[in-house]
Amino acid sequence: MHPLSPLLLILSLVFLPISSHKLSNDSSSAAFDLIRAGRPNAGASLLDHYRHLIFKDRDRHRRRQIYNRRRGACEGDDNVTLSSSFAMPLSSGAYAHNGEYFVRIHVGTPPQAFLLVADTGSELLWMNCRQRRRCRRCANAAGKKRVFHADASSSFRPIRCSSELCKTTLPFSLTTCPRSVSPCLYDYSYDDGSTAQGIFAKETGTVTLSNGRMERLENLVIGCTSAASGSSFEGADGVLGLGYSPVSFAVRAGNRFGGRFSYCLVDHLSPRNASNYLVFGPNRSVRHGSVRSTPLVISDRTQPFYQVGVVGISIDGQDLRISRAVWDVDDDGGTIVDSGTSLTFLVEPAYKAVTAALNRRLEPVPRVQMDPFEYCYNWTVPVAAEIEKRGFPKMVVHLNGSARLEPPVKSYVIDVAPGVKCLGFQSAKWPGQSTIGNILQQEHLWEFDIRNLRLRFKRSRCLNKP
Ligand SMILES: *[C@@H]1O[C@H](CO)[C@@H](O)[C@H](O)[C@H]1NC(C)=O
Ligand SMILES: *[C@@H]1O[C@H](CO)[C@@H](O)[C@H](O)[C@H]1NC(C)=O
Ligand SMILES: *[C@@H]1O[C@H](CO)[C@@H](O)[C@H](O)[C@H]1NC(C)=O
Ligand SMILES: *[C@@H]1O[C@H](CO)[C@@H](O)[C@H](O)[C@H]1NC(C)=O
Ligand SMILES: *[C@@H]1O[C@H](CO)[C@@H](O)[C@H](O)[C@H]1NC(C)=O
Ligand SMILES: *[C@@H]1O[C@H](CO)[C@@H](O)[C@H](O)[C@H]1NC(C)=O
Repeated sequence: MHPLSPLLLILSLVFLPISSHKLSNDSSSAAFDLIRAGRPNAGASLLDHYRHLIFKDRDRHRRRQIYNRRRGACEGDDNVTLSSSFAMPLSSGAYAHNGEYFVRIHVGTPPQAFLLVADTGSELLWMNCRQRRRCRRCANAAGKKRVFHADASSSFRPIRCSSELCKTTLPFSLTTCPRSVSPCLYDYSYDDGSTAQGIFAKETGTVTLSNGRMERLENLVIGCTSAASGSSFEGADGVLGLGYSPVSFAVRAGNRFGGRFSYCLVDHLSPRNASNYLVFGPNRSVRHGSVRSTPLVISDRTQPFYQVGVVGISIDGQDLRISRAVWDVDDDGGTIVDSGTSLTFLVEPAYKAVTAALNRRLEPVPRVQMDPFEYCYNWTVPVAAEIEKRGFPKMVVHLNGSARLEPPVKSYVIDVAPGVKCLGFQSAKWPGQSTIGNILQQEHLWEFDIRNLRLRFKRSRCLNKP
């Protein structure tokens, strides 16, 4: 039940020599060079990689604005098993030129394996999917893509379009309903033309508990995507929505496993075999060491997003002057933590303050033009080495409850091309939300305690030791 396609297996073999090197500035771009050799989108550079993922990030932001959420009550009907947990392997999608993190999951009866984007910014679990057995000749059309064979799963149950679930709760559902038994359809679309269409179904997932036993999670809502276009989910088979909603995997599995999930994000440029875990239930590691904790804000208005209260941002111990309104969710501001966005988006006033303060420290280094980044530096000059020796400017995001997020420098002064570093922020429209993306979250363990509404985090290299 290995989830990797033959193509990806070959790529992982190609990777073997790389992982013996440290992932320094040069080896990370070398990693991309090697990926290039085996991927259809040959010729892409590290910069192209960022351009690509920024494009996607922007789409997500637009999508949020057009996405009209429908709500329902979160049921708490599941059998709560406080002490047990399960883990799913999680790794960077960089090898596939994807700025997301991929998680391995098993769905159906018997279980079929998939690689999905782990996304705290959306609530639907969907994968590429084929419903009909008679579609034998479709194999060519599907190409090498891995699809969920719904017809081969005895637990696959389409949700009817006439059901309350379809009419009031499911995201992106269509009102089309020719017959009451017809399936509930969705049409998920992006501004760049990326789309996913399919039908909603109830399905069973299979997870391996920490004690080694297999456990079945029944009545999961999944999306069976029959048509998808665009590059938004390149290298993955679909999306695991971890956002907060009555139908999301996070809430269903959370209800059953201690009301919490956690993930530890390896360096975002890591090769694919550097994996860690997405864990449902307690991870004892969260209890040890210097763990920070801040209130997790889940509100009707901002579901499925997880909000945190930012109190301010400081550079080298100096608090930046940023209007409080920027961080105030009741004032059309606020900040979400999104594993499915790569770079960090700050609304205009915060973006200006942060980039200006960082730029002041890096100013002696000559700037270079690297669209779409505004601040990039030619790091090959001697003065850059001096700055490195003196120490990079230290950024701290101060969160409610005196919790300091102190990301490693490489998470905000990022390597974009050989010899070029850029400030890893994008500007977002104000008024609006800021987003802490997955690069700023890398090399931290994050626990989303959705029952007690706490977000806990601590530094970790996220090296593989379950
Ligand atoms: C909860 O699940 C466990 C194991 O699956 C089972 O033994 C127990 O009876 C269940 N409890 C309830 C209240 O359903
Ligand atoms: C990745 O694979 C290589 C070769 O087997 C190994 O040397 C390296 O330690 C692996 N890296 C991780 C993080 O597992
Ligand atoms: C901080 O958290 C407390 C308690 O949850 C809340 O009352 C307060 O409004 C929060 N402040 C900010 C700035 O988010
Ligand atoms: C950086 O500076 C060096 C030396 O002045 C120059 O050769 C190189 O082309 C510059 N790199 C970029 C990306 O501008
Ligand atoms: C890359 O790393 C090497 C050492 O690993 C260092 O000498 C060099 O200055 C670095 N270059 C950049 C552009 O960061
Ligand atoms: C708990 O988190 C750590 C990261 O600090 C991770 O390495 C470990 O694999 C996690 N535990 C489990 C059971 O997955």
